[in-house]
Amino acid sequence: MECAVEARGLVKVYPGGVRAVDGVSFCIRPGEIYSLLGPNGAGKTTTVKMLATLLKPTEGDAFILGRSVVRERYEVRRLIGVTPQDLTSDDEMTGWENVYIQARLYGYPAGEARERARWALEYMGLLDVAHRKVSTYSGGMRRRLEIAMSIVHKPKVLFLDEPTLGLDVQSRRHLWDLIRRLRGEGVTILLTTHYMEEAEELSDRVAIIDHGRIIAEGAPGELIAKLGGERIHILMPGPSEAEKLAGELASSGWSARAHGSEVVVTVANAAEALAELAPHLRGAREVRIARPNLEEVFLELTGRRLREEEESFDAFRYRVMTRRLRR
Ligand SMILES: Nc1ncnc2c1ncn2[C@@H]1O[C@H](COP(=O)(O)OP(=O)(O)O)[C@@H](O)[C@H]1O
Ligand SMILES: [Mg+2]
Repeated sequence: MECAVEARGLVKVYPGGVRAVDGVSFCIRPGEIYSLLGPNGAGKTTTVKMLATLLKPTEGDAFILGRSVVRERYEVRRLIGVTPQDLTSDDEMTGWENVYIQARLYGYPAGEARERARWALEYMGLLDVAHRKVSTYSGGMRRRLEIAMSIVHKPKVLFLDEPTLGLDVQSRRHLWDLIRRLRGEGVTILLTTHYMEEAEELSDRVAIIDHGRIIAEGAPGELIAKLGGERIHILMPGPSEAEKLAGELASSGWSARAHGSEVVVTVANAAEALAELAPHLRGAREVRIARPNLEEVFLELTGRRLREEEESFDAFRYRVMTRRLRR
């Protein structure tokens, strides 16, 4: 089978007219980790809900190991596991109870359900806290519990909607290891994220999604390589200063674009270009060389950042202060 998961022209229009997903097609190969990367509101959760048979597509169809999510909902549900973005475990119960109940809901008799629950909790590293109330769990433990609940029936295809939302770096890395281990056992994984680093680290292939459409698809390395060159970001006091500088640079032959208060210059070699750029940098608040990454791919395609609200400086390899440059 060529695609473990195939979306064909999925469209979702919510009552009231919001076109949340606007013609999405892709093919996830068996055993792949495939990410939908996009900002809040891009349509990731809506896509996952349609693939998981929780929401009926307005148009189009999708196939899980060849089964239609529209016409064969019950067959599809046996093949998939879903970890929704909104937590579903009951925090007044223990982790064990949550997972065990899930196994019973899948129809396993008590003895087998106990074995399944034990396996899933152990797999997610939760056996030693299994008998604690979920309300005492950390954010990372809670997320791992949600995944344990979605793998009790050993699904062939797993949907993880923002699996590391709000977690600290360490818990996030721990989850990434567990997700890779699941892939190692042949599980096909679709995950959604708005964390560029997560998509870059974890995915075999990424689809960048914006306003309900896929605007780029490929291996992270391929998408980044297509950018061509390095980027210098120049932060100006405001958008008008940025526009002015971008115009000035463009007229002297630079490839420069203003995005808000920032000017982004594309160059072959950033370290060399900086020396030539220096005379133009009077008035700049800050200058940095950006490592080519998926954030840069998104910026290039849309003119916006993935996360407008959070400036993620750790995504940059260098941070060069203008003052040092001028010296
Ligand atoms: N139940 C709903 N009714 C109406 N609009 C919705 C509903 N759920 C989501 N939307 C809208 O659909 C768009 C996509 O949402 P969503 O799929 O949750 O995006 P993402 O998961 O990428 O953040 C957003 O504009 C959102 O406000
Ligand atoms: Mg979402």
